[in-house]
Amino acid sequence: MPETVMDKLVSLAKRRGFVFQSSEIYGGLGSVWDYGPLGVELKKNIKERWWRSMVHEREDIEGLDAAILMHPKVWEASGHIAGFTDPLVDCKQCKNRFRADDPRIKGTPGQPDAQCPVCGTRGSLTPARQFNLMFKTFMGPVEEAAAVTYLRPETAQGIYVNYLNVLQSSRQKIPFGIAQIGKAFRNEITPGNFIFRTREFEQMEMQFFVKPGTEGEWFEFWRAERMKWLQGLGVRPEKLRWHQHGKDELAHYATDAYDIEYEFPFGWQEFEGVHNRADFDLSNHQRASGKKLEYLDVATNERFLPYVVETSAGADRTALVVLCDAYREEEVEGEKRVVLQFKPSLAPLKAAVFPLVNKDGMPELARRLYDGLRGEFNVFYDDGGSIGRRYRRQDEAGTPFGITVDGQSTQDQTVTVRDRDTLKQERVAAPQLPAYLKAKLAG
Ligand code: GAP
Repeated sequence: MPETVMDKLVSLAKRRGFVFQSSEIYGGLGSVWDYGPLGVELKKNIKERWWRSMVHEREDIEGLDAAILMHPKVWEASGHIAGFTDPLVDCKQCKNRFRADDPRIKGTPGQPDAQCPVCGTRGSLTPARQFNLMFKTFMGPVEEAAAVTYLRPETAQGIYVNYLNVLQSSRQKIPFGIAQIGKAFRNEITPGNFIFRTREFEQMEMQFFVKPGTEGEWFEFWRAERMKWLQGLGVRPEKLRWHQHGKDELAHYATDAYDIEYEFPFGWQEFEGVHNRADFDLSNHQRASGKKLEYLDVATNERFLPYVVETSAGADRTALVVLCDAYREEEVEGEKRVVLQFKPSLAPLKAAVFPLVNKDGMPELARRLYDGLRGEFNVFYDDGGSIGRRYRRQDEAGTPFGITVDGQSTQDQTVTVRDRDTLKQERVAAPQLPAYLKAKLAG
């Protein structure tokens, strides 16, 4: 079978230290991935950008970091125990499991005509049954029903149960939001496509609490804001589109929802959503906990349960969008090169410093420059192999600038700076490098 773009990306991600399969030396753990030295920087850059735009740049949004483990009643009230399920079918022949809506299944599961997409047997698929996607665990030493709790399947619930705490401690007024970045877990039936659908992942979620009746305008506001933010990541706009959920697609908590989809090498798929959750969550938590969660508008003396507009993004899926969008295969001077054209501010490494050759004072000057830049920028030092090979390695890592110390550098303290995308080189005075990089990394 020919190598697909995803195969190439997965192997580049491993080769350059972006993403490794979890527990690889034991044969790997299904659909769980670890971020290597470059991957952790890329994901951190995305999360920091999100946090800055949501929390630091806005007066009306506060940050939160709630625990992954929550009271089990949270998941009853939120509807996740009853409703967070996928229909599942088993093949009695090959023992594989599938989502009942797997497009590869021919016929109706449970009927003699249904055909297993893996072993091809007819009539071997069981009727669909509901499978809850939450990971169960036990609090304390005894594995009994009373000790059951769950790994959160969305970070949003940590925000709802803290909504009054944040409101009162921050002295915000409605409309206001709470933002959070954290891990979520789902026991997906058919995970796959690298870091697209995994069992452990990170979400960047913001819940915006508004007065009932104003949720429509806030919904539109946040849709526009989120698209603007995504375009700011440097993602090609023609690869992004909206998809409004039909009635049958809406999650159990939503009255309206739009996905933002990206055209991945495996097709258009969602990686972020804006949801109108109305008062579904707060009213359920108010009822189940017996605690009043109403907001008092002191200006009008009105009491009401706020409505919620949610923006929910996956940090891993956004990282996959950025990786896929940056991936290019090009021909340069008759040679093939693979390059990740990240927006410079998102790139894991901002620059690499190279002595042209390992003699004549070049390594000493290059090391001095590298040490000087390291405090401010994530930079890399490389003196191994031909300069061409070193450039290629950094192209694959997506490093936007290559700083080379050559014979002239030791005479006049200038260096060449190679631009990853245009391949143009310019001479820059070594003391100007921090200001030069800062200007190029803005935005
Ligand atoms: N709080 C709303 C919520 O969780 P969702 O559409 O189920 O909504 C939000 O999830 C985002 O979380 C998705 O757009 C996706 O980016 C990410 N996500 C969900 N399930 C995932 C999985 N199994 N692997 C990786 N990311 C996932």
